[in-house]
Amino acid sequence: MNANESLPAVRTVASTQSEMTEIILPNDTNTLGNLLGGRLMHFIDLTGAMAAYRHARTHVVTAAMDHIDFIRPVHLGDLVTLKSSVNRAFTTSMEVGVKVWAENTRTASVAHVASAYLVFVAIDGEGRRQKIPQLLPETPDEIRRFEDALRRRVHREAEAARRKEAKLAAARENEIAEKL
Ligand SMILES: CC(C)(COP(=O)(O)OP(=O)(O)OC[C@H]1O[C@@H](n2cnc3c(N)ncnc32)[C@H](O)[C@@H]1OP(=O)(O)O)[C@@H](O)C(=O)NCCC(=O)NCCS
Repeated sequence: MNANESLPAVRTVASTQSEMTEIILPNDTNTLGNLLGGRLMHFIDLTGAMAAYRHARTHVVTAAMDHIDFIRPVHLGDLVTLKSSVNRAFTTSMEVGVKVWAENTRTASVAHVASAYLVFVAIDGEGRRQKIPQLLPETPDEIRRFEDALRRRVHREAEAARRKEAKLAAARENEIAEKL
């Protein structure tokens, strides 16, 4: 399943840590001069993908972006810094956490503005899923995130099963209604 046999079997969280800084320009903002949520989600996706690439060392695709908290608005001219790292690796997928801060360039004040969890899946050039190295959490914070990531995966799977069941039930009801 893994084309790159030279990959180590285990990687540290530190080896996946990634960071990006952007200045917020008029094109990034709404009519109030605040950063658009969709633009911030784009930055989050990019920074999350950087950590996933560093872990998988192959192509990755975003499978899910969940639990984004937009804590406070980001203003035109602010510097936005995003930091990401892999929280846990599963078989072909990994959960990445992204945290976002905004800096007011005049006052130098820095505030935490958003956090998000994303799931990326590793694939090869033909779109086949790729097995990825396991992740070794080392610090108490990394161990906490590693454990929380498993709980979120269980929750995600339960939610997906619930949505699938609701869709099937709706389809069955439509079928019955059409026959009446
Ligand atoms: C993500 C994708 C590769 C999963 O393919 P799939 O055939 O459904 O794969 P599977 O159901 O066998 O799951 C493969 C892995 O992905 C994980 N996964 C799949 N869908 C997921 C979801 N919605 N949320 C979280 N994890 C997911 C599974 O848990 C599994 O992880 P594991 O191998 O670590 O156990 C496929 O759905 C895809 O290509 N989606 C589009 C991706 C994309 O274009 N992203 C950009 C958005 S525009």
